Amino acid sequence: MSTHHTPRAARPGEQAAVLCGVGAALPATVVTNADLTARLDTTDQWIRSRTGIAQRRIAGSDLTTEDLAVRAATNALVRSPSLPVQAVVLATTTPDRCCPATAPAVAARLGLGSIPAFDLAAGCTGFLYALATAAGLIATAMAQSVLVIGVDRLASLPDPTDRTTVPLFGDGAGAALLRRGTAAEAGAVGPVVLGSDGSHADLIRAAHPGALHMEGADVFRHAVDRMSTASRQAAMAAGWALDDVDHLVPHQANARITSFTARRLGIPEGRQLHNVEDIGNTGAASIPVLLAQAVTDGRVAPGHRLLLTAFGAGLTWGATTLTWPNLPAQPVDTKGMPS
Ligand code: COA
Repeated sequence: MSTHHTPRAARPGEQAAVLCGVGAALPATVVTNADLTARLDTTDQWIRSRTGIAQRRIAGSDLTTEDLAVRAATNALVRSPSLPVQAVVLATTTPDRCCPATAPAVAARLGLGSIPAFDLAAGCTGFLYALATAAGLIATAMAQSVLVIGVDRLASLPDPTDRTTVPLFGDGAGAALLRRGTAAEAGAVGPVVLGSDGSHADLIRAAHPGALHMEGADVFRHAVDRMSTASRQAAMAAGWALDDVDHLVPHQANARITSFTARRLGIPEGRQLHNVEDIGNTGAASIPVLLAQAVTDGRVAPGHRLLLTAFGAGLTWGATTLTWPNLPAQPVDTKGMPS
């Protein structure tokens, strides 16, 4: 029996979570396909044609998940309205340690005081799960403003000798500041559609770093199905036609997955944002890094209608809508070393 619940759109005057800042941080070290061919039995042509990826950024042991999260959050907060951050929700599948969670340490390093701070794990859908959680904290008056962080060091997951999975992943972090506002405002997060199916947990799994197992073809099929369906549901719940969407903002799993998803939705290539060619699949960081880059390079402008969607291990998936607010450009932090 399906118990899937599609959220309803808030009415214009109703309270909503409103995006008021984005930022991102990427490691300084670039690993190109040519670098990989020196140590794996692969070619630039194979990687590009199957994944669209030309290079990725990799964190060394001196740049932890916590460091990347702090850098992305700092990058976001430096140009955001100076609101007191009242909670931190951090999505990651690759924390530096099992215990304690990453978010309290990040809040402490940011000097945010003794606010609630916690991690959640939802694979590459983590940012959308975190966004929904933050919206819930705001809706229930637990917090007036919430810092959401998506951070992953996915390059640590594959077996370094596995030519099929190593090329896919990169490291990075993205952050967004949400505040309490109304649904009529630009930046208001629309209805968030979320789902999971643990009966396919085996399709992407890693008992520990270096032990990733992935059934690539099955993952591909599920990713396209779930992202296109969730996108339709989120658009419909928001009262948008797919023709109204200025930019599809898909989790950057790989270029073929995002192209197939866009095609299913009837959204032309020119109306989807991408950066997978430069940074690979960065997991929970994927969507906020893409947004931070797009606002800075001008691909996204105030008033544009964005349809965000993601899919990941779990399986998990999600989608939501967002009308882009007027945010200042903020170049992504690529210095890559901890402060
Ligand atoms: N270089 C050269 N050849 C490679 C290779 C590489 N890096 N990786 C795999 N191959 C070979 C395989 O050995 C196989 O050879 P064979 O036919 O002689 O056995 C052939 O290419 C096809 O392998 P296969 O695994 O079937 O490739 P594929 O077409 O399914 O593509 C992926 C592999 C991983 C690119 C694809 O399955 C995919 O994109 N999956 C989704 C991955 C993803 O995005 N996961 C994260 C979701 S959040």
